[in-house]
Amino acid sequence: MAARNDPEPCREQYWGLFEITHRDGAARIGRLHSKHGAITTPMLLPVINPNLRTIEPREMWEKFGIEALITNSYVIWKHEDLRTTALSDGIHSLLDFPGAVVTDSGTFQSYVYGDVEVGPEEIVTFQRDMGVDIGTMLDVFGRPDMSREELEGAVEETADRAEPSLAVAGSEMLLNGPIQGGTHADLRAQSSLLMGSSESEGRGFAVHPIGGIVPLMEQQRYRELFEILLASKSNLPPDRPVHFFGCGHPMLFPMAIALGVDLFDSAAYAIFARDDRLLTPEGTVKLGDIQEWPFNSHALFGTTPQGVREMERDERSVILAKHNLEVTQSELARCRESIRNGTIWELAEKRSHASPYLRDAFLWVQEQLDDPDDGPVGDSVLRMIASTNPLRGGGEGFGDEIESRPHILHIQALLATRWRVPGSWWDSTTGPPERVLLIEGVPPPWRISALGSVIEHLVEEPRTVVMISTPIGPIPFSIEDVSPWCHLTGPRGIWDPIFDDQEILEVLEEFGISDVPLIRAIPRDEVEDQTKAAEVRAWLDRCSVVDKLALLCAINPSDGCKMTEGMTSRKSRTDRLVNVNSGGKHILSPRLTDGGVSLTTHGASIANCLNHFPVPEFGTSGEDSDFPGIPRVCIIDDAVPFVGKGRNVMHGYISGADSHLTPGQPCIVIDSTGALIAHGIPITTHLEMSYLRKGVAVKVREGALKQDS
Ligand code: GUN
Repeated sequence: MAARNDPEPCREQYWGLFEITHRDGAARIGRLHSKHGAITTPMLLPVINPNLRTIEPREMWEKFGIEALITNSYVIWKHEDLRTTALSDGIHSLLDFPGAVVTDSGTFQSYVYGDVEVGPEEIVTFQRDMGVDIGTMLDVFGRPDMSREELEGAVEETADRAEPSLAVAGSEMLLNGPIQGGTHADLRAQSSLLMGSSESEGRGFAVHPIGGIVPLMEQQRYRELFEILLASKSNLPPDRPVHFFGCGHPMLFPMAIALGVDLFDSAAYAIFARDDRLLTPEGTVKLGDIQEWPFNSHALFGTTPQGVREMERDERSVILAKHNLEVTQSELARCRESIRNGTIWELAEKRSHASPYLRDAFLWVQEQLDDPDDGPVGDSVLRMIASTNPLRGGGEGFGDEIESRPHILHIQALLATRWRVPGSWWDSTTGPPERVLLIEGVPPPWRISALGSVIEHLVEEPRTVVMISTPIGPIPFSIEDVSPWCHLTGPRGIWDPIFDDQEILEVLEEFGISDVPLIRAIPRDEVEDQTKAAEVRAWLDRCSVVDKLALLCAINPSDGCKMTEGMTSRKSRTDRLVNVNSGGKHILSPRLTDGGVSLTTHGASIANCLNHFPVPEFGTSGEDSDFPGIPRVCIIDDAVPFVGKGRNVMHGYISGADSHLTPGQPCIVIDSTGALIAHGIPITTHLEMSYLRKGVAVKVREGALKQDS
């Protein structure tokens, strides 16, 4: 195998900048730019003990794909020989590692041994002088068993040291600003606010580790662990990676990542190996207990547990450490892939069964999602739901917990707030509905399994609100092809009628139609009178476009009706809407993969004209309306010619964005006068857009100034 080349240093102006390339709710794949290359997150910083290198750092870089590692500056500082070499040759040479080097400060030693002999500024200066890429200030470790007063003291003292530490770190070394506060959600939120806003000469922290959590992990107090994470995240600047200090068990990765952790560090791979234990994504296995390997790896290939048991202790530690690091790396790769394909929550759900303590924590998080509180944890979970793309392509496995998944909660919330009873009916009458028809007992695609029956009922009574029963509740027929409902996978029985009248009434109440007479119908195969079918179909198609524009683009249904006045369409051979035209011009296409909509530039232009809210500006509050209009991203003048020709919108060129912007769903790009410049799909939220300085904010589908170029 060819040795991996040394990293390309990032350009100086990018050092410390974090870029989000993919996201799934709070989980994100990012790139943190450093002097020794860009680090792709979520990732693990393996802990290197400078006195005991179980795996050589060079091998980690070349064979394990490790882009950055962490070592302890206090340990180096304490050992005269290490200190001298580190200062003269630099930390990269001391460790023989070409990637980014992160160092800790001695805080953990003060937790273990009671005190350290070094001062806060001295240890940061030392890290800087060794040429460290990301150092750590000397924070005050807040143990969970400390009194509230002591913890308040730890938060305050850490915050007081922040500015002097940033000052001595200088412009070349990035700095970790740890969050303390024990298990008190409010103290964690306060610590995040203080540390997130600390700066010296315009420079703030590059990364925020969540500190003081090792005792919780040792005691498997995972519920508190994740409560701390959510509370801290509520106030942390969204452009800085979050590091879970001392967390390195792969079992915890999916859930931590799903809730927004970007970096992990741990010596677990080596410590467990020395103790003859193997890490797996579902827990830990003792070498002494097994006949066969629970997980294969390159390191263990061709060996047996018995063979490894018979090895010398040192050789055994090395082979097990390599195995543990491989398992850790592959679980992180799996998490990153799950972020890319929108399944990180399902992975966390699956892994939560690995331990009763983890399961308890997962169920607690589900409760927070179902019923967010008024505090920092509630703020975080609401933000998480809102930042989750409500639509996904591909199947959605049906199960007991499906309705607690953030993207399902999001689409259901959108349905509850933005769906409205049609304003007019297929026979052109207006007025309130005469009845609600609930179609039951048939699986999707409903335009095939239920259409005949729907038309029959609509011909009989044009003022009928048509709903379909799905295992996760009734939905309007107009969104029959929208995921997750139409993509639920499971045995045929999940489509059997399961709800009683009372349950259905409760849902209809949310839609404001519980006092309309309800009829329930299981579609029959043949339907006779179809003479009015074409007219009814055209009306159903239009309802579908208006409702999707309302749900996914926040366009008021009355504006959606204006957009679709005189609507015509092109259909596929399987009878799906392919192109939707208004006034003879193509305005949008429903997406086959997830039932969403893809706007055209003409459609975006109409949507923009219909949006009468002021041009968004960062620092001003958003619109308080169920239908704040097509979400807009306003760019600065310098970027207009590029974006207008179809280039992506980059962070740093944005002056405002609507707060209801949803990653993954359509948005338009405007200039400061409100003129349409482009349209596309946002990757980040409006809050992230206001902080991030690097990377793509909106993937532009088409520039609106193309013709002028
Ligand atoms: N390593 C594990 N926990 C901590 C912490 O709270 N602070 C620092 N600096 N390092 C740690």
